[in-house]
Amino acid sequence: MYTDTLMELLSDKNERLGYLEGVDQLLSQKGVFNDKAQVTFITGDAGTGKSILLQQSQSLWSKGELDTGARFLFAFSCRQFSAFQESDKISLWDLIFKHNYTCPDGDMRNNVVECILKNPEMAIFTFDGYDEINSNFDQGTDYEISSTEETAHPLVLLKSLLSGKLLNGSQKVVTARTGTEFLSMLVRKRVILKGFSIDQLQKYTDKYSHGNEDQKLVSVQINSNHLLQSLCLIPLFCWIVFESCSQSVEILKTLDHGVTLTSIFMVLKNR
Ligand SMILES: Nc1ncnc2c1ncn2[C@@H]1O[C@H](COP(=O)(O)OP(=O)(O)OP(=O)(O)O)[C@@H](O)[C@H]1O
Ligand SMILES: [Mg+2]
Repeated sequence: MYTDTLMELLSDKNERLGYLEGVDQLLSQKGVFNDKAQVTFITGDAGTGKSILLQQSQSLWSKGELDTGARFLFAFSCRQFSAFQESDKISLWDLIFKHNYTCPDGDMRNNVVECILKNPEMAIFTFDGYDEINSNFDQGTDYEISSTEETAHPLVLLKSLLSGKLLNGSQKVVTARTGTEFLSMLVRKRVILKGFSIDQLQKYTDKYSHGNEDQKLVSVQINSNHLLQSLCLIPLFCWIVFESCSQSVEILKTLDHGVTLTSIFMVLKNR
C-alpha cells in the first residue's frame, strides 16, 4: 500500500533543493549539502509517514533497490532508548545483537563484526522517532566513545554513532517530528515529508479501491469534497478516512448529501 509522498530536500539554510523522486534515492547523493556529515535527517508532522518511509526503504534495501552499497541495515526505534536505566552500560555490539537483532554467536556474528569494522559504510542505522527520546540527551555531557567494545549508556552510543566518532562512515537515517532540535552540523541531507500531492492521493485511492465499486464510491466522494480531500493529503488521515468509510459503505450510501467530515465522525461514533 506504500505510495510515494512529497519528499522535499532542504539545505542547512532552508534553501529548497528539489524533491526526491522516489524512496530509492533516500541515501543517494541527491540533496547532500554536507559531505562530511553522516546523518540523513527526515522530519514531518505526525502521520506524514516517517515510520512507513523507513519501512519502505528497508524493504527496497532488502531487494537491492535502495541506492546504496550497504550490506547491513539495523533499524531502531528511539523509544527503546528511553527504556534503559540511567546506570545501564552496554557496548555497540550488545545494542545491535542483544537489544535489536538476534544474530547467533560464533562465526556468523564475528563475520558481521569484522566486515562492519573494516567497511563501516556498509552499515545503515535507522533511528525512528528522535523526538520520542525522553531524556536530557542533547543538554548532556559531550562524552562520546570511539571503540565498539567500550561500554557506555545507550544514549552515549547513539550520540557517538551519529557524530561518526563510533563507526565513522556508517550511514545513519534519523526521523523526527517537525520542530525537533537536532545538531545541524551532523546533518548531511535534510528531507521534509509534506504528505500526498493530489496526483499521489489519486494513486493511493486507486490502490486502495483496487477495482472494488464500494471503495471507488469513497474515492469519488473524497474527490468531490475539497475539505475532505485536503484532510486526506496527510497519509494518516487518508488511511483513517478510507478505513472508516469503506467499513461503513452501506451507511454512507444512505447519506443524501455525500460524505462530509461530520458524516465520517458520526459513522465512527456509531460503530
Ligand atoms: N507513504 C504512505 N503510503 C501509504 N500509507 C501511508 C504512507 N505514509 C503513511 N501512511 C499511513 O499513515 C499511517 C501513519 O504513518 P506513520 O506512522 O509512518 O506516520 P509518522 O510520520 O511516523 O507519525 P508519527 O510522527 O506519529 O510517528 C500509516 O500507518 C499508514 O496507514
Ligand atoms: Mg512514526
